[in-house]
Amino acid sequence: MQNLVPRKGFKGRNFSRIMGIQMKIQIVENKDLTKNQKKTINKARVAEWGIEEKKRISKDYEPETLWFFVKKNRTVVSLGAIRPLEIDYMSKTYSIGGICSVISIVKNKGYGSMLIAGMIKYSKDSGKTILGFTMQKEFFKLAGLKTEEEFIQKFIYMKPSGEQIYDSRGDGIYYQGKDKFISKVIKSSKPVYIGVPHW
Ligand SMILES: CC(C)(COP(=O)(O)OP(=O)(O)OC[C@H]1O[C@@H](n2cnc3c(N)ncnc32)[C@H](O)[C@@H]1OP(=O)(O)O)[C@@H](O)C(=O)NCCC(=O)NCCS
Repeated sequence: MQNLVPRKGFKGRNFSRIMGIQMKIQIVENKDLTKNQKKTINKARVAEWGIEEKKRISKDYEPETLWFFVKKNRTVVSLGAIRPLEIDYMSKTYSIGGICSVISIVKNKGYGSMLIAGMIKYSKDSGKTILGFTMQKEFFKLAGLKTEEEFIQKFIYMKPSGEQIYDSRGDGIYYQGKDKFISKVIKSSKPVYIGVPHW
């Protein structure tokens, strides 16, 4: 369990103590998710994005995908995941984290920001770059991530058959790790070929 970074305005005091409630982030590997946690993830995905976004959690995510659950007392109020991704780029292999499935079940209470604070802590602690794509970069920027406009256009999904899939709409949201992967991609004109479809 991570201690949460207090929201701005609380001047570093303990947010959960002030509110008289307990806020925690629980981080669980995909392979260790309980049935209930899988249900919570799919319920949130279907409520936000429709039935076609229901996942077979054990099959569709890597066993080491990390799920972040922001909990108010014992109730999940925000969730999201970081997928382990291996990317070959300009003769080097990068191990980065793909930010995905970010959903606040309870919105506009700062829980999404807490979730992203937890992901940033993970990036700082592990030294890993984390990267996602979104149409809602303003929220992620406020929550502390860096953004790169239309960054998705530089990432091409290569199907196992060799077919290339482009995605034209989506800004990058990231926190750069020790590998400086993002700076390298921004500087170069070369596209990045990925083996997972824009996670
Ligand atoms: C986007 C989302 C995760 C935000 O979570 P949240 O818990 O409501 O956000 P917070 O309460 O932590 O908001 C933090 C700040 O971001 C702002 N904000 C929240 N959602 C925003 C949005 N969609 N656009 C711009 N700003 C936003 C809030 O006003 C707040 O600003 P403040 O600090 O100045 O008060 C939530 O709206 C959601 O679940 N959306 C549906 C799923 C989705 O689209 N996920 C992103 C997929 S890429």
